[in-house]
Amino acid sequence: MPYYTKLGQIPKKRHVQFRRPDGALYSEEVFGTEGFVGPTSTLYHINPPTQVIGWKTLYGTKPEYIESDVMRMRHLKLGAMPAKGDPITGRVVLFGNSDVEMSMCVPDEKMDYFFKNAMGDECIFVHFGSGTVQTTFGTLKFGPKDYIVIPKGITYRMTFDKTKDGEQEPRFVVFETANGSHIGPPPRYVSKQTSQFLEHSPYCERDLRMPELPLTYDKKGEYEVRIKARDLVHSYTYTYHPLDVVGWDGCYYPYCFNIDDFSPIVGKLHMPPPIHQTFEGHNFVICSFCPRLLDFHPDAIPVPYNHSNLDSDEILYYVEGNYKARKGIEQCSITVHPQGIPHGPHPGTVEKSLGAKETTELAVMCDTFRPMFPTKAAMEFDDLAYPRSWEGEHFPVSLEQHHADGAHRTGAKAKGGKAKGTKSKGAKAAKSKPAGRKSPNIGSTWE
Ligand SMILES: [Fe+2]
Repeated sequence: MPYYTKLGQIPKKRHVQFRRPDGALYSEEVFGTEGFVGPTSTLYHINPPTQVIGWKTLYGTKPEYIESDVMRMRHLKLGAMPAKGDPITGRVVLFGNSDVEMSMCVPDEKMDYFFKNAMGDECIFVHFGSGTVQTTFGTLKFGPKDYIVIPKGITYRMTFDKTKDGEQEPRFVVFETANGSHIGPPPRYVSKQTSQFLEHSPYCERDLRMPELPLTYDKKGEYEVRIKARDLVHSYTYTYHPLDVVGWDGCYYPYCFNIDDFSPIVGKLHMPPPIHQTFEGHNFVICSFCPRLLDFHPDAIPVPYNHSNLDSDEILYYVEGNYKARKGIEQCSITVHPQGIPHGPHPGTVEKSLGAKETTELAVMCDTFRPMFPTKAAMEFDDLAYPRSWEGEHFPVSLEQHHADGAHRTGAKAKGGKAKGTKSKGAKAAKSKPAGRKSPNIGSTWE
């Protein structure tokens, strides 16, 4: 994160004597990135963070990608993904490349250890479930639709609350950097002079939830911290509780941001995907498509134009809303549209969108600048019929209206004697109030 904050007790100056109540020194740790010229925090531990009594290798994490030579549109129906593992071991990598990995987790076990990802930053999108992330920087309480950003190297434990009757079982998506970059707000949202979020940013400091107390656990015992590094998870053993920090300050820490606090930017005519951008890492962006008012030009087409995002693969995760505008799409679906193929509104959805005033869509998108490859696990949920869903008549309402007016494709004279190219009264009426428009709420406008 770009701006400075602090929590707990810290001495007046850096790198000076700072003593525990028993007279011994606290152990200072400078937690730095990019060779100590990037975002950095300074922490004060009760115990020296260097004291380790044992370690061993547990399991490998390197994803195995398949069909890396196949380019096609994909749809995964992930609502049926079975629960397994804890919030770390239950993660299933679905897509990835050398920049970012995207996984989904439906956990059914608790973490009885702590975890540190020393390979990359994590951006967790919690779809269902609430709970607590205990970290070296304090406690984050989370709930549905929270993004939780946990930068590289931060020790944490994620615990879900017991699911109540009627609630969905916990489920979350993880975007993890594989190229060593850090996930944060787009630099264009933040002032170079002050690190303050600028007025055009769709969110600001007030929307970010910082770690809070409790922060410090002064306990002795045998504690396991699993560290992910070099595509392996290692088990390290400490003789004290790993969350033993009494205070910290700096610009490197975990935080939460709820997608409902994203304030969408709307326009007179269709606004491009970058206005939905929420975070970015090197070679990828994360965007939030949130409920919003639609374009207000009287002749606006509120669904996206067909587009080729020539440098990007696009992955969309469907959170909630009306999925009728995309055939076969369900809650928890993921679609992939690779850089080589144009995409846009599904057949028949453009005319139906005309005049719509708002959308209830909620989706999370990851656009990458290099191809994203599926894993074998992803292909278990592959909807092979999806590419064919783009076949069919794209403008059935126009044609119905066209034929109702007595015209046809060959340009024969319409009823009433009007020739090809002239507008009948019916056609004019169709323009001002399209047939098939029933509701001011369009449902989905997916990019
Ligand atoms: Fe797109």
